[in-house]
Amino acid sequence: MVEHQPNNTILVTGGAGFIGSNFIPYFLHNHPGINVVNLDLLTYAGSLKNLEKVEKHPNYTFVRGDICDNVLVKYLFKEYNFNGVINFAAESHVDNSINSPRQFIKTNIEGTFNLLENARIFWKEKNYRFHHISTDEVYGSLGEDGFFTEESNYQPNSPYSASKASSDFLVRSYYHTYGMNVVTSNCSNNYGPKQHDEKLIPTIIRSAINGVKIPIYGNGKNIRDWLFVKDHCTGIDSIYHKGKAGETYLLGGNNEYDNLSIAKKICDILDNKMPNNNNSFSDQIQFVEDRLGHDFRYAIDASKVSKDLSWKANESFDSGLEKTVDWYLNKYQL
Ligand SMILES: NC(=O)c1ccc[n+]([C@@H]2O[C@H](COP(=O)([O-])OP(=O)(O)OC[C@H]3O[C@@H](n4cnc5c(N)ncnc54)[C@H](O)[C@@H]3O)[C@@H](O)[C@H]2O)c1
Repeated sequence: MVEHQPNNTILVTGGAGFIGSNFIPYFLHNHPGINVVNLDLLTYAGSLKNLEKVEKHPNYTFVRGDICDNVLVKYLFKEYNFNGVINFAAESHVDNSINSPRQFIKTNIEGTFNLLENARIFWKEKNYRFHHISTDEVYGSLGEDGFFTEESNYQPNSPYSASKASSDFLVRSYYHTYGMNVVTSNCSNNYGPKQHDEKLIPTIIRSAINGVKIPIYGNGKNIRDWLFVKDHCTGIDSIYHKGKAGETYLLGGNNEYDNLSIAKKICDILDNKMPNNNNSFSDQIQFVEDRLGHDFRYAIDASKVSKDLSWKANESFDSGLEKTVDWYLNKYQL
């Protein structure tokens, strides 16, 4: 357990992004004995606005910088004496990885390596934990049925998922080679407040209320398993504190929906909230040219984390989606 140590400071990377900025306030609130140093480069995907609520929290420090920067990461390990790392930092948008993969290789692979290597060099204590945040996309694509489990083969299909798969393998190797106390969690698609505008659900909401076409790839039949971001945060917390060294845990919400159904659900919510609109928002849905190499279906069997660590998702998809729509309406000040 990492909780009751005299100097109890962890490094969280990428904490100004979507999931990290939901995680940090949750974690500070639930673990008052742990200090958090957030190392984030503030790329286009990160924003300190996401962390306004904790910026003055006594247990929170923000450092702007690159996880690939060895001098900086070395300095931070020395200065703060971390006894844990949770690595969220990544280039995370599949479309960008198709158009310009180079930064994905750098941040996701080299950056993870740099963190692991500094942890290996600085940590004399075998119980210090390195938790790597990853994705179910490393397992490739499913057909109509079946689920990903911790035993599924790695079959990444995009430069994004290939870079995440590579980082997962590096993390695994630091357990097998050096005996480091690592865990990896591979999660399904997240949704909720603070997600970057480029992603599917924010794009649907924004396009709908701006009165422009709601773009849906291909025939809209690609399926994802959606997890509310706050449920992802409780899952990470459980795995960070109670997960077994060297293990992988899959997190998912058991909410399988195709992209077209998601767009229609959001339009229904908006039709109810903004009834003055004469037509249904769903009239704006338009199919656009499919993403290259678009995986058909992802679905998670989360029974290991539920059985071993008693984790379960609490938010229903309908209530989570409603909260998400409300958050974006507020952001766009409607
Ligand atoms: N969003 C999802 O649905 C999802 C699902 C499963 C797993 N994941 C994984 O969770 C993690 C977080 O995803 P997200 O959706 O919050 O991503 P995001 O793109 O919203 O945020 C990424 C954050 O990392 C920071 N960053 C990028 N490059 C950096 C670098 N070189 N050094 C330091 N900081 C850097 C960015 O500034 C940003 O704040 C990623 O590792 C991603 O692969 C995401």
